[in-house]
Amino acid sequence: MLLCALILSSVATVLATFPTQLVYQSPTGFFLENIGVRPSGKLLLTSVLSPTLHTLDPAKGNATLDEVYTFPNSTCLTGIAEYAPDVYALVASNLNITTRRAEPGSVAIWRLDFSAKHFTVTRIAMIPQSTLINGLSTVPGAPDLVLAADSAIGAAYEINMRTGAVRVAIQDTALAPHAPAPALGINGLRVRGNALYFTNSALQTFARVPLSMGPRGIHKAGAVQVLGTVQSPLPAGKAAFDDFALDCAGRAWVTMHPGALTLLFPLANGTWAQENAAGDPAGSYAVFTEPTLAAFGRAEGEEKMLYVVTGGGQVVRVDTAGVHL
Ligand SMILES: *[C@@H]1O[C@H](CO)[C@@H](O)[C@H](O)[C@H]1NC(C)=O
Ligand SMILES: *[C@@H]1O[C@H](CO)[C@@H](O)[C@H](O)[C@H]1NC(C)=O
Ligand SMILES: *[C@@H]1O[C@H](CO)[C@@H](O)[C@H](O)[C@H]1NC(C)=O
Ligand SMILES: *[C@@H]1O[C@H](CO)[C@@H](O)[C@H](O)[C@H]1NC(C)=O
Repeated sequence: MLLCALILSSVATVLATFPTQLVYQSPTGFFLENIGVRPSGKLLLTSVLSPTLHTLDPAKGNATLDEVYTFPNSTCLTGIAEYAPDVYALVASNLNITTRRAEPGSVAIWRLDFSAKHFTVTRIAMIPQSTLINGLSTVPGAPDLVLAADSAIGAAYEINMRTGAVRVAIQDTALAPHAPAPALGINGLRVRGNALYFTNSALQTFARVPLSMGPRGIHKAGAVQVLGTVQSPLPAGKAAFDDFALDCAGRAWVTMHPGALTLLFPLANGTWAQENAAGDPAGSYAVFTEPTLAAFGRAEGEEKMLYVVTGGGQVVRVDTAGVHL
């Protein structure tokens, strides 16, 4: 839900690491997975190790993590996406953290509505064929739809949040894990324009695929194009892309395990380049312990503040204002 007044097809960047500020550190290292940024700027935070949704106000000094709601029959919350003003889709499941696969029949899509006076929670759909939904994305121009990344089978489901209908919209080897559990294929995903951008953790790629959207739903409309791959001094398999944010200029801010944020951006000739934006690709940076997702702030003056959550229980503010168009 970024307000993108200016969409540029190519940008030049001043390359440097951006200033970071630790907003919150969980005293118990509570694993944080995904962020829903509310219109007020408050963050809704999910954890793969808890069925409880939390909230944190990053504008407060000494911010605290406060409980919002605990989902039944679940141990794990992954993607969250705001598909109408202050209304969110959220994925809950019963996850085995060793195999990184959910109990079949436990994957549920919920609707959380904060827009009315009384907060309501409604289960919209079950996805019995899935053993892991990871990231969620809204679909600009299709307000009832969200896309959900299945990291196990390498697919993106289209979920109609009004009717509860679920169908596989895209399935492709570029989304697949290419190895047994606990490998993860497609992890984060975002629709922008007529394209789906996504990370594949096992393949170490950031990529996009053109989409067509019509009365029969969302379909793949061309070949997958890899825009970047993990660049790390660590041995293969020790570093991986997780989830990401897209900014108004079409750049991607991708979290990378074990401890960095990578900026991927298009050059004037259409090829993509990448740079380390924050943290350390070798994992030595103390406030980026297994970063899982980045999301832009929404409170006044916060549009260029990127909030990164980590598996080490951190919320880190990254000031991206130094990126010049
Ligand atoms: C945060 O907590 C510390 C220690 O309790 C206190 O000294 C400080 O004033 C607090 N800061 C804010 C902005 O509330
Ligand atoms: C939780 O799971 C149990 C057993 O599978 C089922 O009977 C119950 O209806 C479920 N509760 C909810 C809220 O889904
Ligand atoms: C997770 O899966 C592993 C491997 O199948 C199994 O040994 C373990 O008992 C499972 N853990 C739970 C909590 O079910
Ligand atoms: C695009 O531009 C970059 C930077 O000038 C250059 O390194 C790269 O080779 C160019 N790629 C193509 C396909 O022209």
